[in-house]
Amino acid sequence: MIQSDTEYTNPEGLHVGMIMDGNGRWAAARGQPRLFGHRRGAKVVTEMVETAPALGIGTLTLYAFSSDNWKRPAREVSGLMRLFRSYLASETARCVENGVRLCIIGRRDRLSPALIHAIQAAEQTTRAGKRLLLRIAIDYSARDSIVAAARCAGECFPGSREEFGALIARVTNSPVVPEVDLLIRTGGEQRLSDFLLWECAYAELAFPDCMWPEMDARRLGRVIEDFHSRERRFGGLAHTAAAS
Ligand code: FPP
Repeated sequence: MIQSDTEYTNPEGLHVGMIMDGNGRWAAARGQPRLFGHRRGAKVVTEMVETAPALGIGTLTLYAFSSDNWKRPAREVSGLMRLFRSYLASETARCVENGVRLCIIGRRDRLSPALIHAIQAAEQTTRAGKRLLLRIAIDYSARDSIVAAARCAGECFPGSREEFGALIARVTNSPVVPEVDLLIRTGGEQRLSDFLLWECAYAELAFPDCMWPEMDARRLGRVIEDFHSRERRFGGLAHTAAAS
């Protein structure tokens, strides 16, 4: 179902996206099954959420399960789904305490009734959170969301880019969010993997040299510091060039 959330004001601050890659390899390097890495990865999620507001992040969008991840072995998929449920069950109260609004973006029709119930409960319980909007992408595909928004828009869409972006947010069950400022991918790969393709049009990209289970507050702090040293021109000119 599409949420209608016109009253919502997005928290101030950066929008940071994270592709949490490398759990499986981190676990394999320790002779452990892939789910061991995912469980460790869930702990890192908690650390990122706790650290984000102090680093000036107002919206955090995490890629937890892509629509292509259904191709993985059933055991890994069901383990991840269980992990999402237990994360929602254990973290909702902490989110309320810390002013974090939780929102799960992506398709819902292929999730189990128990997970959908947990998502609805977490979203409802945390809806007043104003310090951080935490969006977790589950069964998410950026291309599918763009196609769904285009279908809603119809043949002769008279709206602006911003209005089309708002439609994309709506079809993924999200409040309207600003575009992504910074996209972080761990795990050594440098690709987008169908994540936030529209929202990342002018995102800065960062690839910290670690697997997701090794990501921590210190590394995030360094990435944010580096982000602030960059000059974002959005297709314009550098300040110095524009003045001359
Ligand atoms: C990609 O790395 C990671 C995933 C498909 C799952 C991400 C899930 C988590 C970080 C844990 C739970 C999240 C929440 C929100 C509770 P990979 O496992 O494919 O790594 P690999 O490339 O080393 O195989």
